[in-house]
Amino acid sequence: MELFEAIRTTRAMRRLDPNRPVAERDLWTILEAATKAPSGGNRQVARWLVVTDARRRAEIGRLYGEAWGSVRGSYVAAQGEGAPSAILRSADHLAAHMGEAPVIIIPCSRAGDPASIYPACQNLFLAARGLGLGTALTTVHRLKEAEVKAVLDIPEDVQTWAMIPVGYPLGRWGEARRRPVEEVTYWDRYGERRTRA
Ligand SMILES: Cc1cc2nc3c(=O)[nH]c(=O)nc-3n(C[C@H](O)[C@H](O)[C@H](O)COP(=O)(O)O)c2cc1C
Repeated sequence: MELFEAIRTTRAMRRLDPNRPVAERDLWTILEAATKAPSGGNRQVARWLVVTDARRRAEIGRLYGEAWGSVRGSYVAAQGEGAPSAILRSADHLAAHMGEAPVIIIPCSRAGDPASIYPACQNLFLAARGLGLGTALTTVHRLKEAEVKAVLDIPEDVQTWAMIPVGYPLGRWGEARRRPVEEVTYWDRYGERRTRA
């Protein structure tokens, strides 16, 4: 897949096929892509916990669902009146089915700063896109982090920065909807926009 097409079409894929397994070789490929990302001082603090065991997936999936349930109300309130948005419906679906994702990847580190983790996650997402695999960056599990860590035998001084379901998407890829680059880019002075040539 062409690089810029992958960038344009990599987005949160929350509906994943629970019955289509992900090949271990593809997991190695996307994890290796993650390891190629930059990190502060090249310290490479990220550790990747790949959860394939059905029982552990189900347990952390349940915890994810509970964590989402405790913040869902604030998302609904922020959204205002009307039918639930597509994002809310898709987030609800993931909350109900996280544990059924064929694979769940948890990026971890002993360091307290995730700045060296999320660039690696994005590499992983792009590599997954290249292989036709869907992913979604989620973080609400951190509300239940101690319990998630207990399920996965993660030491107390190790933090978990995301819960990333991986699988073949049930939906279509489509282009991620984002604000136009000209709207969010300033030149030389904050607020000074320029029309793209
Ligand atoms: C820091 C961060 C935390 C996120 N946490 C969650 C989460 O806990 N649950 C979830 O369903 N999506 C989560 N998302 C996904 C965003 O909701 C998603 O990227 C955004 O809605 C854009 O979706 P799209 O890429 O499909 O257009 C998170 C994204 C980021 C960058």
